[in-house]
Amino acid sequence: MISVATFRLPGSALRRYPSQVMMSFTTLQQRNYKSTQAVERPEEESHFLLILGPPGGGKGTISKKMLKDFSSFHHVSTGDLLRQHVRQRTALGIKAKGYMDSGELVPDNLMIDLVMEDATPYLEAGQSLLLDGFPRTIEQAMALEKVTHIDVVVNLDVPTDTIVERLADRWIHPASGRVYSYSYNPPKVAGKDDITGEDLVQRDDDKPEAIRKRLESYANITAPLVKYYEDKGLARTFSGTKSDVIYPQVKKFLESTHFFS
Ligand code: AP5
Ligand code: MG
Repeated sequence: MISVATFRLPGSALRRYPSQVMMSFTTLQQRNYKSTQAVERPEEESHFLLILGPPGGGKGTISKKMLKDFSSFHHVSTGDLLRQHVRQRTALGIKAKGYMDSGELVPDNLMIDLVMEDATPYLEAGQSLLLDGFPRTIEQAMALEKVTHIDVVVNLDVPTDTIVERLADRWIHPASGRVYSYSYNPPKVAGKDDITGEDLVQRDDDKPEAIRKRLESYANITAPLVKYYEDKGLARTFSGTKSDVIYPQVKKFLESTHFFS
């Protein structure tokens, strides 16, 4: 149970959105979020970056590159979190699996609780967050705004043909979420994870029917968020087919903002 005395959002969030943050205290208390012990508020400001893009658009790939250059960020991938719950057969994992395998979005209430619970210790510590795969609906975006501010939104725009080719060739190490592709970043030994040597598998939702459904959900439900963040002056779109070409542009853009200089 979180107590108001010990739960703190980063100083910058408190300064910018005091009333919303106070609302979030109540909401978090009502929802009985777990909290770690009190953390001293750090001197430096924390930042919040979202990465949007279609399924297979390279969100995970670009996030990994960003973390190398901007190491103060903590990466939260909702897809990776959900797959971990599915593997551990938690109550959430059992509920989410059906939606994920068929390529549908998991209901907002489950996703909002999941992200808040995972992000709370980092928010308390004033750490910067890179959110990958959240928000995906306007409801999720509004829930996020109640607890923090968003500095920058990076939107990846990749053609559908490229996505379909990539997903057919994607292999993952389920325990760590490491991603491989024989045409782009192949494992050192075919079929095995580079670090653990364990087997690589294909994701259940990388089957053609689930890919079709994921693309449809993206177009109908998530893509409108790009305009939502553009209207707020937060989003920048990067188009292309190669993450190695897109990433240097993303890096340059982030370095040009005062948040990451
Ligand atoms: P999630 O895991 O987030 O899936 P996704 O959005 O469909 O995105 P992916 O992870 O498939 O792709 P990516 O953009 O990370 O691309 P990657 O870098 O791997 O979510 C899964 C499911 O969980 C959802 O369908 C939904 O059910 C649920 N869910 C999650 N969040 C939710 C939310 N907020 N609300 C409701 N439900 C939610 O790259 C793809 C492939 O391309 C890789 O093989 C990679 O190696 C390769 N690649 C990358 N760059 C290149 C390149 N330049 N050339 C060749 N190959 C490349
Ligand atoms: Mg991903």
